[in-house]
Amino acid sequence: MTTNQNAVRVLRSDDPEAARLLDLGARVESESWGARLTVTPEVLAGCRAAVDAARSAGWAVRALAPEEAAALVALDTTAAADYPVTAATTHDVPDAAGLATALAAGERWAFGAFAADGRLDAATVLYPERDRVDIDLTVTRAAARRRGLATAVKGAAVLALADAGHTLFGTGGAGDNVASRRANEALGYVVTERWLHLRVRSADRAGAAD
Ligand SMILES: CC(C)(COP(=O)(O)OP(=O)(O)OC[C@H]1O[C@@H](n2cnc3c(N)ncnc32)[C@H](O)[C@@H]1OP(=O)(O)O)[C@@H](O)C(=O)NCCC(=O)NCCS
Repeated sequence: MTTNQNAVRVLRSDDPEAARLLDLGARVESESWGARLTVTPEVLAGCRAAVDAARSAGWAVRALAPEEAAALVALDTTAAADYPVTAATTHDVPDAAGLATALAAGERWAFGAFAADGRLDAATVLYPERDRVDIDLTVTRAAARRRGLATAVKGAAVLALADAGHTLFGTGGAGDNVASRRANEALGYVVTERWLHLRVRSADRAGAAD
């Protein structure tokens, strides 16, 4: 994939064109990454442990029904400004009606962590891709972060979808989003690609040296 947005080119870190542009003086403005998880017994055990830990801490971790889409959208709205924006990673809060329809149609799956009073504190949304299941978004209420909830809802998703026969999962995010990357790595996602967002001067784009 290559995009050109406001003179920022997004290139895989191993693309020779990235090396050429860096040599010409392009600046790495930001980075992003892609990761894959292949279901194995060890991965499933790790997912179970993440879900169990959240349950022991008092959250109910389960799949969301279509009628719970509005709660997910309300949660995501509170965190919209916290998603790192880069040339390759942007976030649009989903539309509640559209998400409910997609959940009912099996075009999206959602899993959440509910506090004892029923408040949705974390959620993840996934969708079927050609050869895998991809993560659309994952969000944790600001006040409930760093308690393993993102890891737990992602783990619950892998457990349920693996049970339904899915064996490969994909995700990605901004290089700066350490929390997102670590939640994924904790479950067995492996970073498979890095993308450089290169701020390219016009002389560089034309392929000319200074
Ligand atoms: C990213 C996000 C979902 C993580 O949620 P969370 O519930 O706090 O994550 P967890 O508690 O499961 O933590 C996962 C890992 O990240 C680490 N972590 C969490 N927040 C961190 C931070 N701000 N800096 C560094 N590491 C962090 C945790 O320590 C944990 O790592 P560990 O297993 O090695 O201890 C949450 O920060 C969020 O909603 N951010 C805004 C939306 C967003 O960026 N979503 C992801 C892109 S789709």
